[in-house]
Amino acid sequence: RIAYVNGEYVEHAKAGVHIEDRGYQFADGVYEVCEVWQGKLVDGPRHLDRLERSLRELRIDMPMSRAALTFVMKEVIRRNLVRHGLVYMQVTRGVARRDHFFPLQPVAPSLVITSKSTNPRAGDKQAETGIAVVSHPENRWPRVDIKTVGLLPNVLAKQHAREQGAKEAWYVDANGYVTEGGSTNAWIVTKDGVLVTRPAESGILKGITRAVVLDLVAREGIRFEERAFSLEEAFEAREAFVTAASTLVMPVVQLDGRPIGNGHPGSIATRLRQEFHTASH
Ligand code: PDD
Repeated sequence: RIAYVNGEYVEHAKAGVHIEDRGYQFADGVYEVCEVWQGKLVDGPRHLDRLERSLRELRIDMPMSRAALTFVMKEVIRRNLVRHGLVYMQVTRGVARRDHFFPLQPVAPSLVITSKSTNPRAGDKQAETGIAVVSHPENRWPRVDIKTVGLLPNVLAKQHAREQGAKEAWYVDANGYVTEGGSTNAWIVTKDGVLVTRPAESGILKGITRAVVLDLVAREGIRFEERAFSLEEAFEAREAFVTAASTLVMPVVQLDGRPIGNGHPGSIATRLRQEFHTASH
């Protein structure tokens, strides 16, 4: 495997960044995960829009132009012969002697891009049975709209989920409303058949997969409301699912050990998964 690290294509096994990289010491950086489908980068421009926004919020410079980033992502895909898989891109504030303040002498941001193959059939197989999720108190910082590499709460919540036999944790805010998953956005179909997901303005990362699904929902004329839903409402839901570049549309069939709907993947989730790539770009 080949990785791109600060201007060079290097052997993945030997790739590394400096021990004083601020990403390593302070989680002072951001990332993106893009899907690769049929050898093509999926929704590259939308991921670059969000990367630019995350960097702007943290006052880190773009490491190179959008066109150059796109080129390197495609080159990493090509060099790793990825047809179906993911691209990971990480930008940190750079290398400097450890000090919380931004470096006085500006340093170049660090850029790492990797790509790996995944088996598309494995995801589809998982989607045929669906996944279990468990609720978890919201304990992340309020700026979850920034896709930072500071993911310790997500790591702990997801590990907790795994230890309960689940694949994802759903964060629940102080008012009892679901925000999102540890690495996914959360959706339900209410008992009245209305698709619901939380507005991107508060408490969640504005998922690219979420945006594509919203395009699909509009095109298909599926009944939809963008509003927060409570954990209680989720227990009563007809179906549920999560979305992310890494899972696409993944049905949720169990919440805190209780079946959702009939305990099988719902028809809307299944349809949105099947049609996803007709709406992505
Ligand atoms: N996670 N919410 C959170 C907290 C996420 O980490 C992610 C993505 C999403 C979905 O965003 P998108 O549809 O753009 O992938 C929502 C990536 C895949 C990860 O951390 O691996």
